[in-house]
Amino acid sequence: MLNEVNPDTVQTLQRCALEESRLGIPLLFGRDVIHGFRTVLPIPLGLAATFNPELVRQGARIAALEAAAAGINWTFAPMIDISRDPRWGRIAESFGEDPYLTGVMARAMVEGFQGDDLSLPGSLAACAKHFAGYGASEGGRDYDTTSIPEHELRNVHLPPFREAVDAGVATLMTSFSDLNGIPATGNRFLLTQVLRNEWRFDGFVVSDWAAIEQLTAHGLTANDRQAAYEAFHAGVNMEMATSVYAGNLPDLLARGEVSEEMLNARVADILRVKMRLGLFDRPPGQAAELPPLQEHEAREVAREAAVQSIVLLENRRQVLPLKADRLKNLAVIGPMADDPYEQMGTWVFDGDPTLSQTPLQAIREAVGQDVEVSFIKALETTRSRDTGAWDEALRVARAADVVLLFLGEEAILSGEAHSRADIGLPGAQAELVAMLKQAGKPMVVTILAGRPLTLGSMPEDVDALLFAWHPGSMGGPAIADVLFGRVSPSGKLPVTFPRVVGQVPIYYAHKNTGKPATPETFMHMDDIPVRMPQYQSRFVSCYIDAGYEPRYPFGYGLSYGRFVYSDLNVSNREVQQGQPVQLQVTVTNEGAMAAEEVVQIYIRDLAAQVTRPVRELKRFRRLRLASGESRTLSFRLEPDDLSFYGRDMTLTLEPGTFHVWIGGSSTAGLQAEFSLVAAPPAAAEAS
Ligand code: BGC
Repeated sequence: MLNEVNPDTVQTLQRCALEESRLGIPLLFGRDVIHGFRTVLPIPLGLAATFNPELVRQGARIAALEAAAAGINWTFAPMIDISRDPRWGRIAESFGEDPYLTGVMARAMVEGFQGDDLSLPGSLAACAKHFAGYGASEGGRDYDTTSIPEHELRNVHLPPFREAVDAGVATLMTSFSDLNGIPATGNRFLLTQVLRNEWRFDGFVVSDWAAIEQLTAHGLTANDRQAAYEAFHAGVNMEMATSVYAGNLPDLLARGEVSEEMLNARVADILRVKMRLGLFDRPPGQAAELPPLQEHEAREVAREAAVQSIVLLENRRQVLPLKADRLKNLAVIGPMADDPYEQMGTWVFDGDPTLSQTPLQAIREAVGQDVEVSFIKALETTRSRDTGAWDEALRVARAADVVLLFLGEEAILSGEAHSRADIGLPGAQAELVAMLKQAGKPMVVTILAGRPLTLGSMPEDVDALLFAWHPGSMGGPAIADVLFGRVSPSGKLPVTFPRVVGQVPIYYAHKNTGKPATPETFMHMDDIPVRMPQYQSRFVSCYIDAGYEPRYPFGYGLSYGRFVYSDLNVSNREVQQGQPVQLQVTVTNEGAMAAEEVVQIYIRDLAAQVTRPVRELKRFRRLRLASGESRTLSFRLEPDDLSFYGRDMTLTLEPGTFHVWIGGSSTAGLQAEFSLVAAPPAAAEAS
């Protein structure tokens, strides 16, 4: 059953299924519980920016409890498609561009939803989706084709799914997209060879909405009957929304095109999940007693998640944090400043906007009576072009000590089927910023959006810039916490921000190419002499008008603290194949404020049988340091962290040189080097 959220109806239907159906098989009640239920957490892309799996686990737990109270026992999350294209609307639902970060978050969310035991009241069956490759759709257009070489599929797109399966995820959902000529919903390689034979998954696979029927629109099959045949043989256990299986499997079975043995196996996978959920053991018609959940607990986790998701992109002359006691007048301007609905983001079927606390409300609360807060929207929505209120907005800005602008994208501009070809600020928002500059006041811009945006020269034109994603119910208080320095911002980008949309795809873990650009070799087109002979060109990989670097790199995010890394130490310059690598580093907060930092470890395998990315995230740790505090951290990289899927599509650990970096973003950090050397034959045999 899809989308039934009346607990009484759920009970009635469940009782009918158990007592009045022929075989007494209980029902699953599925719903998209993506980032919270009534209490809305930041969109998953924002959750990824926390680099805090424990918080993600707690958030999923709370969502599970709230959803279970409505009768739901199956959620269609986590969405773990590697998303490297900000045009794609569904990037909002993802954990961003990195396989390792996505895998860590996938595990955390599965564990949060499913709890310690799937059969305990309050646990939901999770669903890892969309298997697989959906995020690589051509041009970032939703549902479009993907062409992914097998080694890239295995090295980049499949690892988070493997992690979810290893974490015990109960179900998987197929992707809508075509993968290398065979739509995922009819793809035996994915659903049988990889998922069942290699990974030994024993839960069930559900098609995405009408995706079996759509095999015909894709051009894989000529009609529903063939579509049922292909999906069934590929490994889809359950069809969502349409009735292609119900309409055609009886005949396929009768004619021997589907064996009874295979039918039984497909059904058994579903029954196994229902048994694990304890659905056969519950007394019919009676709601299970759920563990208690206090509303304030849910709100606190939502607030903390929102706080840790906020990324400080710019902070000139330390304009932030604001000192409330030195302010008299604040101007709060913009379409996202006081909109309880829009701040919740995409996929909030059950989100309750009356629970939302907006930035305007929270700012008023934070500064109290002594500071006058004047609010004007200036633009009705993020898409508006009507400048009718701008004179008044300028007057309000002129009268203020600081201008706080809240811009971004409305919720409906990201999410499913809502890709954008231009990922700039919609409507006249960029012009609004330029106009308000005339006030000559310090300007702090907070952006609430479902994807990375291209910001033009705005980051240079303003004093501080915060990216808050769609932060959910508690977005307002979280933003106020950061603006007024109750906490230091600590979010880090889970996805690269391009300068201009034409740079997409742009991601940190790219390959080096044979002609990488460097500051020395890059020449901007403005510097290319007119009629320069072609042979004088620099012949490097870049755009002559946009360079080769992004606007903000993966892992980036500023702090009110100041973190200094020192004494990077690698246990062994030569590491025997199969042995772990131990790393140590000291991190000091030389800033004046206590703050949290996300320490990130990247490696590069310099030469391999299949070329490897210039950097790959392998570990991260969030830590809090008081002003002046220092801590020495130890990390251990396992052989698997140094392995990759090679030419024969198996996990390969090759001798060779590796670089390793530890720092606060994908473009920073202390660097060291070590070599993997072949293990002596005896040790190799033993391992
Ligand atoms: C989406 C899925 C979602 C399903 C059920 C589909 O359109 O692609 O992610 O779980 O609808 O609502």
